[in-house]
Amino acid sequence: MSKKLFIETLGCAMNTRDTEHMIAELSEKEGYEVTGDLTDADLILINTCSVREKPVSKLFSELGIFNKKKKPDAKIGVCGCTASHLGEEIIKRAPYVSFVLGARNVSKISEVLHKDKAVEIDINYDESEFAFKDFRSSKYKAYINISIGCDKSCTFCIVPKTRGDEISIPDSLILNEVRKSVDAGAKEIFLLGQNVNNYGRRFSGEHEKVNFTELLRRISKVGGVERIRFTSPHPFHMDDEFIEEFAANPKICKSMHMPLQSGSTKVLKEMKRGYSKEWFLNRAKKLRSVCPEVSISTDIIVAFPGESDEDFEDTLDVLKEVKFEQLFSFKYSPRPQTEAEHFSDIVDEETASERLTRLQSLHTQMLDEGNAKLLGNVYRVYFEDLFQDNFVAGRSDNNIMVKVKGSDELLGEFRDVKITSIGRTVLTGEVVV
Ligand code: SAH
Ligand code: F3S
Repeated sequence: MSKKLFIETLGCAMNTRDTEHMIAELSEKEGYEVTGDLTDADLILINTCSVREKPVSKLFSELGIFNKKKKPDAKIGVCGCTASHLGEEIIKRAPYVSFVLGARNVSKISEVLHKDKAVEIDINYDESEFAFKDFRSSKYKAYINISIGCDKSCTFCIVPKTRGDEISIPDSLILNEVRKSVDAGAKEIFLLGQNVNNYGRRFSGEHEKVNFTELLRRISKVGGVERIRFTSPHPFHMDDEFIEEFAANPKICKSMHMPLQSGSTKVLKEMKRGYSKEWFLNRAKKLRSVCPEVSISTDIIVAFPGESDEDFEDTLDVLKEVKFEQLFSFKYSPRPQTEAEHFSDIVDEETASERLTRLQSLHTQMLDEGNAKLLGNVYRVYFEDLFQDNFVAGRSDNNIMVKVKGSDELLGEFRDVKITSIGRTVLTGEVVV
């Protein structure tokens, strides 16, 4: 009988891809099979996130629960970004943890499995770590890493410490993965990196200069690729060439993530984001003018140290002007080993909560007004998920989530769908073609 693996994935899409790779390694080399039942597992993995403090504290309470529920001889391993930044401390605080495996070391999963109390958190640049296994959790969409790590030094962010310096993966390897994914049935390619449009700055060896725009062109020419998405681009690297290719290339989905973080030029400087409020507005304006159908999502941090009422008003200003279709917003959370950890002029908790609520309410109000206009529109939807009650869900090119009545026959298919009812996160429609 095969051994059972229970794996929980927290955080970003890169963690999702790391999880796929670990599942494949454990299945091929160790004969594991995934289970959703923790109590039946022989190995329990938590693939962690450390961008904010909440998920880190949640990790320790969750570890305690997992330890009580698990089979007596089952092993628990902690992987991902929190593993990278806490290392050995995890085993000190939770001695029943068998091993700790950093975000940059996931290829070593089958090695650490056999070493009791192993802590593998080195950040090395061995090219073999680029070669991820082909296994994917979705048949319809393929997540593909194009770079690992991040070279920026945003003062609030722990990622450069946990995932290391930025290294681009040679385009020949990426194109190979794209071809294999398409052959396996995926029509959508989802490119991943912390800073995708900085692609091509540094490779681990000698390599032809290929920037992100050129990489997109090359991928879009691979037969069978119908849609390309990517996350996250950085507003600083959104030059005209990139925005124009984005607008003109029919394979690139018209959905752009533009992580603003703050609308105040003063705060952006403190964050070391490399752009001003005006730069950001100019890029968003350019994008909307060359690509009117684009939907723009963003990340915003409220209550960064030193953020005054006026600074926060600047953020609301940008929200009103850009009218983001999607917002991910967070209260600033001080992180170890970051510059901002030592900043004074902390914004009190009450003000932080109030700002977050104001920001989110304004956005919800704008969203409701915008969504009401979508009724009756027709979108080309690519179906990927089976919902309850015979609903099938998919996304439009510009990332609107739509569900229709239907069966799994629609999965992996494109259909034109007319919107018949509006919800806040999912719209309902009916297939017209
Ligand atoms: N490379 C990505 C960022 C990864 S972290 C990008 O540039 O978009 C994802 C998001 O978490 C960030 O965009 C930011 O909004 C948020 N975040 C990161 N560090 C944070 C912190 N210390 N406190 C609160 N939110 C944070
Ligand atoms: Fe973090 Fe800034 Fe890089 S948010 S991941 S340091 S671009």
